[in-house]
Amino acid sequence: MWEKELEVARQAAEEAGKILAGLFGRVKKIEKKGDIDLVTEADLLSEKAVLDIIARHFPRDSVLTEEAGELDQLPDRMWIIDPLDGTTNYAHAYPFFAISIAMEFQKECVLGVVSNPYTGESFEAVKGSGAYLNGSQLHVSQTKRLQDSLLVTGFPYDVHENPQGVMECFQKMLVRAQGVRRPGSAALDLCYVASGVFDGFWEQRLHPWDTAAGVVIVQEAGGIVTTFENDSYTPYDPSIVASNPFIHKAMVDALNAPL
Ligand code: IPD
Ligand code: CA
Ligand code: CA
Repeated sequence: MWEKELEVARQAAEEAGKILAGLFGRVKKIEKKGDIDLVTEADLLSEKAVLDIIARHFPRDSVLTEEAGELDQLPDRMWIIDPLDGTTNYAHAYPFFAISIAMEFQKECVLGVVSNPYTGESFEAVKGSGAYLNGSQLHVSQTKRLQDSLLVTGFPYDVHENPQGVMECFQKMLVRAQGVRRPGSAALDLCYVASGVFDGFWEQRLHPWDTAAGVVIVQEAGGIVTTFENDSYTPYDPSIVASNPFIHKAMVDALNAPL
């Protein structure tokens, strides 16, 4: 199931990837959507490439993308797209960024493709069929204890205005984990949880396009994804904890512990 959708998502990620790879280190037009929230010409060109390919194959599907917003058509079928996840990295020529494409069917994410055109890594998963990196099946790590775990997180763009909750969570995890990283692309962070490089990920105030594809990839690699309250996660929730099954409770407990 979903073969044609997966093939179209792959093709869209590949075309967008060519654009991002071609402009990498050479972007001239950088605008600000907020104090520290950037948008470059690459975000827009990548988005156009993805939307064109999806519209060509599935003209009646709904889409939700970061830059163009929402196009409401068939209510059951919605593509959720981040044409460039890691824009700040990209604008500074730091090569950790991705295209993230997911499809939601009847409000459930059924497939995700996340690809980093700089490294050639292409992560994908279809609900019920496992998660893969360039054709090799992925599994989350086996790390059993938080103190042995390498965790990953990110910071929302309103962190200047609202730093407190974000800093508190960071502090709680920093004193409990073996290490914490902040690479700058939530979609790839999730894929690295799926591949077992990172043991767990948490973040607040992400958007559906940041997580929709990565969450399917983590779940299909055997991981658990919830909100900070330990409720089952949807990409519309304001908090996310994704990890291997062994440390998930410890992560949730740590995030909810007093400072
Ligand atoms: C951002 C990245 C980053 C995360 C931010 C996101 P963008 O997406 O995923 O890692 O910490 O919260 O908004 O703006 O580069 O597409
Ligand atoms: Ca993003
Ligand atoms: Ca983006």
